[in-house]
Formats: sequence, C-alpha cells, structure tokens
Amino acid sequence: MLADSNLKYHILTYGCQMNERDSETLGGMLEQMGYQWVDDLNNTDILLLNTCCVREKAENKVLGHLGKYKKLKQTNPNLIIGVSGCMIQQKGVAELIHERAPHVDLLFGTHNIHRFPELLNQAKAAGATLIEVWDQEKSIVETLPTKRTDKLKAYITITYGCNNYCTYCIVPYVRGRERSREPQQILDEATELANSGYKEIMLLGQNVNSYGKDFTKEVDFADLLISLDNIPQLSRIRYMTSHPRDFSDKIITVIANAKHVCKHFHLPVQSGSNRILKKMNRGYSKEYYLGLLEKISRAVPDASITTDIIVGFPGETDQDFEETLDLVTRAKFDSCFTFLYSPRQGTPAAKWEQVDEEIKKIRFNQLLKIQNEISLAKNNSMLGKTEQVLVEGISKTNDKRLSGRTEGNKVVNFDGDEKLIGQIVPVEITEALTWSLSGRLVV
Ligand code: 5AD
Ligand code: SF4
Repeated sequence: MLADSNLKYHILTYGCQMNERDSETLGGMLEQMGYQWVDDLNNTDILLLNTCCVREKAENKVLGHLGKYKKLKQTNPNLIIGVSGCMIQQKGVAELIHERAPHVDLLFGTHNIHRFPELLNQAKAAGATLIEVWDQEKSIVETLPTKRTDKLKAYITITYGCNNYCTYCIVPYVRGRERSREPQQILDEATELANSGYKEIMLLGQNVNSYGKDFTKEVDFADLLISLDNIPQLSRIRYMTSHPRDFSDKIITVIANAKHVCKHFHLPVQSGSNRILKKMNRGYSKEYYLGLLEKISRAVPDASITTDIIVGFPGETDQDFEETLDLVTRAKFDSCFTFLYSPRQGTPAAKWEQVDEEIKKIRFNQLLKIQNEISLAKNNSMLGKTEQVLVEGISKTNDKRLSGRTEGNKVVNFDGDEKLIGQIVPVEITEALTWSLSGRLVV
C-alpha cells in the first residue's frame, strides 16, 4: 500500500482491555497504510470510535460523542468518521447509528476487524456510508499488525469470545464463541515483547481460565502460565478476566510457585446471593466462592484479591443484597468494581422484572461505603511493608512524584528520579489512602 506520511488518525476506545487491544490492531493497520497518530481531533483525517456495549452508559457516551463530532466535519469535510466494535456487532445498531448520525462514513463490527483497511479504502472511494457487519466469527487472523500504546506493559490476547452466557451479559453475542490462540503464537509474541524491553504482559480473554478447552491437544491455562513464566527478561505476567468456576487447584498451585505471575487475583463474583448467582447462570455458589478465596489465601498468603459486583440484577431482594454485603465483608477484597445492572437487549435478564432504579442506587452506595472502608483497612495493613513497584511514569496528581504499581496492582506514588521509569524498585509504604498508596524509595 502506498504510504502518505501526512495522513493522520485518532482512535477513541471505549470499554475493556479487549477493546484497547483491538484498537492497537486498528492503529497498526492504519500505520501500515501510512497514517500517523495525532492527539488533536481538529487535525485528523480519520476518527475511529471503537465502541463497547456492556452497559447502557457506554453506549450513550458513544452516541453523545458522535453528535458532538459532527461539527468536526463542517471544518474538515474530508474527515472520515468510523465506528467499530461491540456496539456495532449488535443486530440493527449499525443501521440505527446510520439513521441518527448520517455523518458517520464507516461502520463495522468485531468479527471483520481484519477487513478494516479494505473497508476504509472502499468508504473513501464511495463517498457514501459503508456498513459491514458479519453475523459470525471466523477463525483467528494471526497476521495483523499492532501499534502498541505503552512501552512497558503489553496486552496479549489468549482467547477470543465467550461460551458462558451469563444471563446479564451481551459479550457472547458480540464476541462470538470461545476460541483459544495457539500456545506457540502466544509464546512467540511474549518473547518478542520481552526482547524489545516490555516488563509486563497482560493475558486477555473473557474467561482466561478456560484457555485451551477448544483444543484437541492437552494444554490448559496453567500450562500456558508455566511456559510464559520461563521467558527470560519478562518481569510480570498478569491475566484478565478469570471465572471463579474455572479457577482450578492446578492454576492456584502454578501461580503460587511461579516466579513472574503476579500474586493478584481478579475474581468477579457478581453477587453473594445463591439465588441470584443461579439466575445469573454463574455456575458456583457463595460458599464455593469463599472456599476458593480460602484456598488462594492458603497457597498465596499475601495475595491481593479484587472483584466485580453487579447491583440490582432483576429480582434482587433486600435479602439477596444482604447476602452480597455479607460476602463482601467476609471476603475483604482489596478493591471491587461495582456496577448498576444495565438491561442489555437480547440477553435473558433484560426481559425479567427489573429492580427500581432508586433502590439500585441506594444499594450501590451502601456497598461502595462498606467496600471503601475495607479497601482503606487493607491498604493500612501495608504500612511499613516494602513492595516491589514497577515504575510506570510521573504521578497524575503530583508531577514531582513517580507513580507505579505493586505486584497486587495497587498504585503507589513516591519521590524519585525519572530515570527509574521502567524499572522495578523497592518502595516502603508510608501512607495509605482508599484508592492508592504513598511510599519511600528504599535505597
Ligand atoms: N450490567 C451491569 N454490569 C455488567 N457487567 C457485565 N454485564 C453487565 C450488565 N448488563 C459487568 C460484570 C462484568 C464486568 C466487566 O461488567 O460485573 O464482570
Ligand atoms: Fe459475560 Fe459471563 Fe462471558 Fe464474562 S463469563 S464475558 S460475564 S458471559
């Protein structure tokens, strides 16, 4: 393809790490076509919105932005606006956006992302809106370029799609059936990243613990972790997201003995009520989940544990919510991502009787208050301890300080020379806040 170095692009990414990774692929394809990243939206030739549909809030944000960006076309009539990702993969949404935002030039979903360069050229030539959404996923395309957005930490996709069909979740409908990448492809990618200076990799999948279940050969997530743990120069291995049901004893043992797999366990529980867990189709009980945490704490005593919780799932009673509060109090999570249940069209739970919005908000705030106290207490218990911190950059809140993350994924701000960025250094924790820690470099 002919390169024109004056062409500029900008990608806005909504939603999860999987989408961020897709945006890196889209960026890679654009750079191969000769485009260069630009921060200024007034000065771009391509503006791509890579969307999320996991909750209504994410969708509304995209619709709001599309309205706002219409103005950009008035000052720059040659601007191409594209919308991609999960939102577009939903039935009828591309057509709806075309109707409401006719200034959008190109709409495509998640299954045909590899066709982006061709679609872009077609849209430019046609001068009319181009929509291409595939109904079904195809096999994994391994040859796509990547424009990494970070120099220290890199995402590696290990599985695409999800087979779980939790009754609230739209993901299986927009990301397709679960497909695992070949272990060798993952190892090669990780080795290349380590050789080019990356310190941390984050393995991505909707349910990383079920990695390999679609293979005929015997290889599972634990085996993959063992191979990755042996790559020299790679300091940290993380993974996202786990399903508590599939978190086997083998995985716990491998992580406990690994040199580089971070002792951080993100285990989305979603609810503490067995009745609601069943309606969610999660495949485990509150007792199983608490038992799993116990097993993990026994094998990895200083493990950091985080979770996701949905508040106000259809039919959630005060009693069900009390069960969630009880679980949170007993589990003592380091932190918790809390979400108000958002009905997603096409999922079973969207059709069930909904919880009153006001009640949802009251429960949400109650949960947040309890969890914030627990998070602060957990952070306080780290005072005086020395943590290994990967220095990521300058602190967002104080440009005279450095900022990094502990193995447990907690943010630590401390004084130090900018030359330390990219290194793993010992930091003594001197102050604990709810969301972050302060520390002192140990020299
Ligand atoms: N409403 C609210 N939260 C949701 N999540 C997924 N689907 C929904 C929904 N319909 C949350 C779950 C999941 C996280 C990524 O998003 O907690 O773990
Ligand atoms: Fe959604 Fe459940 Fe799959 Fe996670 S495991 S992506 S919550 S269906």
